[in-house]
Amino acid sequence: MPETKKESKITYSPLSLDKASYSTLIIGIFKGKNLDDSAKKANERAGNAISDCLKSGDFKAEYGETRNLFINKGSLKYILLAGLGEEKEYKLEKLNSLIAEISKRLRDSNIGKFGVLLPSFASSGYDEAQIAENVAISAALGLHQFIDFRTKELDKIKNADEVFLLSDKNHDAAISQSRIISNSIVKSRDLANTPPNIANPEYFANYAKELAKKSGLKCAILNKHDIEKLKMGCFLAVAQGSKNEPRLVVLEYNGAGKSDKPVVLVGKGITFDSGGLNIKPYPGMTTMKGDKTGAVIAIHTIEACALLKLPINIVSITPLCENMPDAGSYRPDDILKAYNGMTVEVKNTDAEGRMILADALAYANKYNPKAIIDIATLTGATMVILGSVGTPIMGNDEKLLGKIKEASKASLDKVWELPLWEEYAELLKSEIADIKHLNEEGGAGTIIGGIFLKNFVGNTPWAHLDIASTSWAKMDSGIYAKGSTGVPVRLLIEVLRGWEK
Ligand code: BES
Ligand code: ZN
Ligand code: ZN
Repeated sequence: MPETKKESKITYSPLSLDKASYSTLIIGIFKGKNLDDSAKKANERAGNAISDCLKSGDFKAEYGETRNLFINKGSLKYILLAGLGEEKEYKLEKLNSLIAEISKRLRDSNIGKFGVLLPSFASSGYDEAQIAENVAISAALGLHQFIDFRTKELDKIKNADEVFLLSDKNHDAAISQSRIISNSIVKSRDLANTPPNIANPEYFANYAKELAKKSGLKCAILNKHDIEKLKMGCFLAVAQGSKNEPRLVVLEYNGAGKSDKPVVLVGKGITFDSGGLNIKPYPGMTTMKGDKTGAVIAIHTIEACALLKLPINIVSITPLCENMPDAGSYRPDDILKAYNGMTVEVKNTDAEGRMILADALAYANKYNPKAIIDIATLTGATMVILGSVGTPIMGNDEKLLGKIKEASKASLDKVWELPLWEEYAELLKSEIADIKHLNEEGGAGTIIGGIFLKNFVGNTPWAHLDIASTSWAKMDSGIYAKGSTGVPVRLLIEVLRGWEK
């Protein structure tokens, strides 16, 4: 695992404008609203530069509008006004993107250290602790860059050394929690972005072992032989086309009593998806290193929950293998036997995610879970349904889906429920096996994926998150950088953090 490079430090600091240890101070300004007390103090320190600028009409505080004022007061050289728009239209999404964009801009203009005046970003809808958490996470995500594999001109890679979150109220606790969350997101991005020649199942398993050691998790790694003994026929079939042997990694966190049933996270871990014999045409195969993201998300979510010391038991189960074309590959028309004894007729080897999840979901029941949540880059059809804005979710339990929808509001990872109607189940009937893994006629691709998986969870409350289009960004924008987004680590932490509520 390449050791992490330069990270920006994000810390709480009491508000002291006279002895600022940063050269630039960012202040949030709502359109048409008076300055709050903290901004008034900054205005005094700046010899009324802020109020003069606002009076001049030059800066209207439209959302996203910025103005850099040179004030040159001791170590404090600049005040950057950040327009927040109308207060009634203010949302945490807007705050997150704005902070991420400004952080990147300041980094690129070689501002080593900058401060964010937290109270100026609070509003009637959001308290300061919430603002502190969101500013801390969005600054960290905005500043993150995946540079593990660059060897040239490393000195040209810019970085902000330290971001100070300023307030009279102490937000140390909120900021330390945010640091755990943003670290898990950033590490998820890095692992998902790691190329498939390096991040193969063995590498991933070692990574998980190391992560478990550092965060005090129990870790079991099952190899091909162990998986054969368990008779995971679907998982083994997908794995059999690759020289790189499969692994099944199980991590356990016990934050509650032994008798407390765990929540099990199951993540799709295809370290590279070529499609297998149903090979993907160009350019569909590029970015398929990202097909392990469900597994990446599962292990970093459990890591974060352990570091946050949440009072809950969690297990993560991640089947890891490569989907490759080979003389030994599984074929369309094969009939396989899953871990739960069901026979499955294969129709297209590119629908491999549901095959490895079938076995992993059935295996999850061994842990007597109170809920199972699976995370998978399962179907390209998600792009047609919600684009890259939100994650389609499906499941068999309205209460569990409700928890996820509720958590989505605070985490900003958007979700939308799709129905698993009986009519869809009809489409997976096979004449020669217990079930087909897809419907050759096509249609409702994302739902069909969910319907197939439902057969393997038994009666346990279960939710399926198809992250095929939200886990990957096509370009840099706001808190996202081109490549892995780390979505939905934040959502899942929020779900688990609020479990007993
Ligand atoms: N890994 C892909 C899904 C995917 C596509 C993820 C694009 C991210 C971006 C999955 O294994 C797959 O190939 N699914 C097929 C299913 C089909 C054969 C039923 C798909 O979406 O086309
Ligand atoms: Zn595939
Ligand atoms: Zn896949």
